Amino acid sequence: MLKFVQLDELFRSRFFDLAIICIFGLLVRSVYGLLKFLYTGIQYFLLDDFSKDFTDPESDLLTKSSHPNGWAPVALSEQLGVGKILKVHVFGQDIALMRDSSGTVHAVDPYCPHNGAHLGSGEVVKIGGEDCIRCPFHKWSFRAEDGVCIDVPYTRDRKAPKGSSLKKWHCIEVNHFILVWLHNRAQDPSWFVEHLDDVESHGMVYGGKFDYLINCDVYLITENTADYAHFSTVHGKPSFLDEFCRKLLGREKNFLVQTFNNFTWEAASKPESHKAVGIYEPCYTIFGFSLMKGQMKSIHYGPYFLTANLKFWILGLNFELKLVAGYIPIHSNKHKIVYRMYSDKDLLSRLFCRLTLMGLFSNIQYDGHIWQNMIRLKRPLYLKEEKTMINCRRWFLQFDDSTNNNGN
Ligand code: FES
Ligand SMILES: [Fe+2]
Repeated sequence: MLKFVQLDELFRSRFFDLAIICIFGLLVRSVYGLLKFLYTGIQYFLLDDFSKDFTDPESDLLTKSSHPNGWAPVALSEQLGVGKILKVHVFGQDIALMRDSSGTVHAVDPYCPHNGAHLGSGEVVKIGGEDCIRCPFHKWSFRAEDGVCIDVPYTRDRKAPKGSSLKKWHCIEVNHFILVWLHNRAQDPSWFVEHLDDVESHGMVYGGKFDYLINCDVYLITENTADYAHFSTVHGKPSFLDEFCRKLLGREKNFLVQTFNNFTWEAASKPESHKAVGIYEPCYTIFGFSLMKGQMKSIHYGPYFLTANLKFWILGLNFELKLVAGYIPIHSNKHKIVYRMYSDKDLLSRLFCRLTLMGLFSNIQYDGHIWQNMIRLKRPLYLKEEKTMINCRRWFLQFDDSTNNNGN
């Protein structure tokens, strides 16, 4: 009886009411956080592509007349079928891409030397067994191999005047990107981008892509991978899982802690000095327990292209992913950043690949807001702790013969 009375008093106490309200509130907040997280997750998961446009027309004021030299991605392979033509706008100008019957891609100046029609709306034809790009206007045909006009349909001998040919750009196709050689002083390519067998031979499966359109100098995108300090100041914590914890529990406390076991960024030595290698090894703990270890080794090929090998250990499971990234130079201060990821074929690897892509997509948004209004200083105040950024800037100089730098 005595016990019953005490319990009764307890039930009536204000303390008990408060406790019930708190537990109920926490429960509602948790369910809300979980549902919101799942909703966002499913939205991302169902999307094939994630896209974001950060561009601001006012940033165009910083446009320069030159671009760093190197192989620049201009399109994705799947955008150009056999026997098709694709018009791309890069380096502040148009280029016409065409894929011949053997699958080889050619890049040419798009304006017909006869009277200036745009070849982007032309067609691919065979003339005398040779693949040609045919102008839509008076149907002059230019040989894909060398750009020379070999057919004028309305003259008696079908011959074009001497010298009527299109300017061809050096063009390669690597890891499902189409790249064009860009050089401010018109020098021929002095290096190439390596093919990833796993990615090209379908040893790994495609796991999705995202792209960002952004107004900024390409150097800033490259430097980001060498900027150790910003990992904590901008990205703070691995956003995806940490966000989950914070949403679930409705608190701002950082439960997931990210540390680095290793962080290096160095130029490769000659004759591969066009390459730079960045390695970082993050380690994640949650409530003090080791949750995940990873290693990301990225290889930069000049200013516009990189590939990366990502290895993760998570709760005893191992995953390996490949990343191919290109920065398509629309003009010197506007780039489309494209990330494509590949994983092993099993379902778990595919899911993990998807999660990683979502994590990268979410993380780069933080950078994007800053790059959008950022300039590239001529003399930044790097600290001695920022050796990797100094390495990056020194390495980048070899590509950059800009004559009109708007930096300070
Ligand atoms: S403008 Fe191209 S054939 Fe006349
Ligand atoms: Fe970043």
